[in-house]
Amino acid sequence: MPEICRFDPSGCGFPAPRVPLLPAPGWAELSADGADRVPSGLLSGPGVRRFARGRYALRAAFAAAGLGPGGLLLAPSYHCRTILDPALALGAQVALYPLHEDLRPDLSAIEALVAGVGAAARVLLVPHYFGIEQPRATMEALGALCTRHGLVLVEDCAHAWMVAQRRVQAGVPSGRMLVASPYKYFACPDGGLLWGDPGLLPPQGGAPGLMAELRAARALTTRPAAVPPAALPAPQAGPRGAEHRGREDGPSRYYDAALERRDALLQTRWLIERAQPEEIARRRRQRYRQWLNASAGWRRARPLAPALPEDCAPYMFPLLIAHPDPDFFRLKAAGLPIWRWDDMAVSECAVARRYRSRLLHLPCHQGLSEAQMDWMLALAREVLA
Ligand SMILES: Cc1ncc(COP(=O)(O)O)c(C=O)c1O
Repeated sequence: MPEICRFDPSGCGFPAPRVPLLPAPGWAELSADGADRVPSGLLSGPGVRRFARGRYALRAAFAAAGLGPGGLLLAPSYHCRTILDPALALGAQVALYPLHEDLRPDLSAIEALVAGVGAAARVLLVPHYFGIEQPRATMEALGALCTRHGLVLVEDCAHAWMVAQRRVQAGVPSGRMLVASPYKYFACPDGGLLWGDPGLLPPQGGAPGLMAELRAARALTTRPAAVPPAALPAPQAGPRGAEHRGREDGPSRYYDAALERRDALLQTRWLIERAQPEEIARRRRQRYRQWLNASAGWRRARPLAPALPEDCAPYMFPLLIAHPDPDFFRLKAAGLPIWRWDDMAVSECAVARRYRSRLLHLPCHQGLSEAQMDWMLALAREVLA
């Protein structure tokens, strides 16, 4: 079982983020014009299964690949717990492979790892972090490695809806599966998707039911207005929280086995079917560029991915900070919306160890107002410039 390093912020007294980290579910972004739509066949059909979250889609992918007790998932060293949880829920073990600075998998290290663990390895999981597609040559090399060793390659598109959309339209190659997490991209309340060989996928799980639909629908109608955050507080660092380290022998508290076979909400499908994926991509790129322009020349931080590929639909803006203490604490105490993967299995990977405390995931979604964006940029500049 993996050894986990977990940052516990409960003693820090951080306020709730003053700007939403994800697009708030609602119909504000829908269009009557049908030109820019999610292609039919992505949400239902023989090679698709829907889930409540991407983590349950991952579980189904791993199970379909034959991962179970005695089996081994090869997962990236830089990860969130919900990537590992599905493997642990299946009773499998996890081996972590190292990454380069730009979060490309280290191919030769993976070769050596596979040679070392032998037949136990069943699945290689590769995320397209922050919506940025892994290079074609990397994916081809990994595909070839998986074929040679009889592994299933699972492309984790939880951050990369548009990568999944392109890949699924082109046809998922045999020996591969793709997983997505639509609520990170669209303004919908839940969802996880799995695409792969129809012969391997489990039956479609059951609907969440009327009460769940009503609860989520109420949240849709009470969507908060995009109120600009309060005036910039002077960012002060408060208490530093606590670090815990220990072995954990099962899935984390972010995993609910009762949801493993549950379909997404009907309203999620309804909203995705009417959303405009290309327009969302355009707005996300615009916000990402605003982050890039603002952070150019900051002394205490730099963008992890300063070149935004033209066809990329970014999920978040990854920013590497030089001084997590005190800068992370100052930003959090002032209410900046930040995700940071500081709850992670311990590995030898120097990049993952460094990024655990230094890599901030900052929102660049289509739901951000100008005022929210200006406020975030001003606050980040105040602390990091
Ligand atoms: C890279 C990656 N993969 C998978 C997941 C799981 O997605 P979900 O939140 O839909 O379960 C996450 C969640 O944040 C993620 O960041």
